[in-house]
Amino acid sequence: MKKPVIAIDGYSSTGKSSISKVIADKLGIVHLDTGALYRGITWFALQNCLNDNGSINLEGLFSSLDQIQLEFKNNSGELVLYLNHIDISKQIRSNEVSANVSLIAKQKEVRDFLLQSQRSLAEKGGIIMDGRDIGTVVLPNADFKFFLTASIDERTKRRYNELLSLGIEAEEQQVKENLIIRDKIDSEREIAPLKQADDAIVIDNTNLTKKETIESILSFIKNF
Ligand code: C5P
Repeated sequence: MKKPVIAIDGYSSTGKSSISKVIADKLGIVHLDTGALYRGITWFALQNCLNDNGSINLEGLFSSLDQIQLEFKNNSGELVLYLNHIDISKQIRSNEVSANVSLIAKQKEVRDFLLQSQRSLAEKGGIIMDGRDIGTVVLPNADFKFFLTASIDERTKRRYNELLSLGIEAEEQQVKENLIIRDKIDSEREIAPLKQADDAIVIDNTNLTKKETIESILSFIKNF
């Protein structure tokens, strides 16, 4: 039986990845957190492609893209992101990466570099992919498309708690500002902006628990 291809897009910290992971487990399909890939490239740039003033050297990054190998490995049930065989799953959640990732993600070279591998993963079906442009650009023919949104205060609270649970120091006001800036850059960029696909189902989960959001999504998928 063919398994569904599901696209989950939406604003930062609406729970896209953690929700997608649970749905993937329930449906026995693969989960790809595409934000982690953009974060991985940003981490690489921060380590290897800096100008003397500490800013990212974009040209340097573009010419180094072919040295980047990103892969997820299953580590006792947790998907762990490896950059050139090194576990970077904690580093990609750092404040430094969050502050720079939207600048990196708006670059055509970077988006082109990641596009084909994302598409090929969906060719056989049975995948849930979360990001910003999955329903609009990466998988426009997905069987199901969802677009998640929530109030900025609720999203700030979730992101702040996530950082604390990872042992990363953060200030709530800074977390909020980062979410606002990222959403603005992501929505206004020229290539593959953060946008609701015309045929996406919108879920505002401000007042929903994670479990309720998952149930809502599954209620649309159950008859597949
Ligand atoms: O999902 P997450 O918040 O980890 O994504 C980090 C950043 O990666 C986003 O703010 C956005 O700039 C970029 N991104 C993107 N396209 C995707 C997924 C993430 O541009 N499909």
